[in-house]
Amino acid sequence: MALQRTFSILKPDATRRNLTGKINAKIEESGLTIVAQKRLWLTRTQAEGFYAVHAERSFFGDLCEFMSSGSVVVQILEGENAVAKYRDIMGATNPANANDGTIRKEFAESIEANSVHGSDSEENAAIEISYFFSAIEIVG
Ligand code: CMP
Repeated sequence: MALQRTFSILKPDATRRNLTGKINAKIEESGLTIVAQKRLWLTRTQAEGFYAVHAERSFFGDLCEFMSSGSVVVQILEGENAVAKYRDIMGATNPANANDGTIRKEFAESIEANSVHGSDSEENAAIEISYFFSAIEIVG
């Protein structure tokens, strides 16, 4: 498996509880490297743009409200099989279904306030990375 990049967000429920260090430790312990990272406070419009693929879902309005309710940390993670590896250590979307030891099992508050986002494919990772980062911000 080749070296891959994936996109990650530490969500407002995580920043509010000062969990970014603990979550980054789990990311780094998994072997993934944080090659870009910055803290932002998304506007409602920016959150809607990022989650546009979910625009028809019943939870879309609440999700965008939540994602713009506090600061987030956006990241690019690099490593072997990074997309699948990060999804593995994040755990299931709903923390009630997440495996022991995963980020969401340990930290998530609910299916919405689930602490982290990770890309679901290499193709979407590239799209999501380009939504937040320019080339000059990424350690090569
Ligand atoms: P994320 O991986 O960021 O992708 C979409 C987000 O929508 C998801 O994590 C959850 O935070 C949120 N969400 C809220 N309700 C649901 C739901 N019923 N099913 C899936 N995702 C949901």
